[in-house]
Amino acid sequence: MHEVLVTRKLDPAVIIKLSETCNLDIWDEDTAIPYEELLTRIVGKDGLLCLLTDNVDAKVIEAGVDTLKTISTMSVGYDHINIEECAERNISVGYTPDVLTDSVADLAVGLMLNVGRRITEASKAAQDGEWDFWRPYWMTGVDLSHATVGIVGLGRIGSTVAKCLKGFDCNVLYTARTPKPDLEALYGMHYTDFDELLAHSDFITVHAPLTPETNKLFSTAQFAKMKPTAILINTSRGGLIDQDALVTALTNKDIYGAALDVTTPEPLPTNHPLFKLSRCLILPHIGSASIATRQDMGNLAAENLIAGLNGTSLPQQVPLPLS
Ligand code: GLV
Repeated sequence: MHEVLVTRKLDPAVIIKLSETCNLDIWDEDTAIPYEELLTRIVGKDGLLCLLTDNVDAKVIEAGVDTLKTISTMSVGYDHINIEECAERNISVGYTPDVLTDSVADLAVGLMLNVGRRITEASKAAQDGEWDFWRPYWMTGVDLSHATVGIVGLGRIGSTVAKCLKGFDCNVLYTARTPKPDLEALYGMHYTDFDELLAHSDFITVHAPLTPETNKLFSTAQFAKMKPTAILINTSRGGLIDQDALVTALTNKDIYGAALDVTTPEPLPTNHPLFKLSRCLILPHIGSASIATRQDMGNLAAENLIAGLNGTSLPQQVPLPLS
């Protein structure tokens, strides 16, 4: 039997599957395992099943290094794991791409519609008694149909957003490390550089991982290049946006609105200025939160872990950097 630490109370099906071949030490709560607890309980474990709320840094990996073979995260993002350290220690890392792509793309499109058409803002106004008459120009917003949408990062989720936007007859621009002519042809979109995308997009949706290169990719200079009517959507990682600069840009009406499913920190303190701006919608990191997707993510995380512990190739392995 493999010794495994599971850092959260998970779906019973996942626990049953793991129990067949593993002795489980479970942080059996619906709250994040405290860092000190993670540091202590990783000792002597062959495997770790973790979540994006766990800081699996060099110290944690070092604490488990004598036995640790595989880390499996129930997330597509892995910026919470020190991948370089794993590569050095020959620890395989599994993650859960693909199974959540449609759910996150759905939410990104939903947020475009929501902020563009002021759905949450209008609902709140109705609830607050501001709906006295039907007024011809009250709560008018911007259409997604026929808009120019800029996609930053054309991986699995970015390209699925492009596919969805075909149905809205959007003019889709994208930036990526390299142009992707096959996807361009399939979804009728255009590769541009970042500055062009900023200048021409009515909506910008971010689908890039958080890396040193993408940290604060959107700051004062980028907001200044955007249209005053533009709407920014982020369902990737909070670190890609300089939130102080965003508060200023929204307050000064340099851009029209924003929707953030991810923030820095998470949770965002309720007294944060972003919560006070009517054109800024904040969600509690629910991009992949459909019932079916979270089940699929749990199952894939378990499969990755078991494969790694058995010394076979992981169904979805994080590519480790070359040392
Ligand atoms: C969610 O943000 C994930 O990385 O799965």
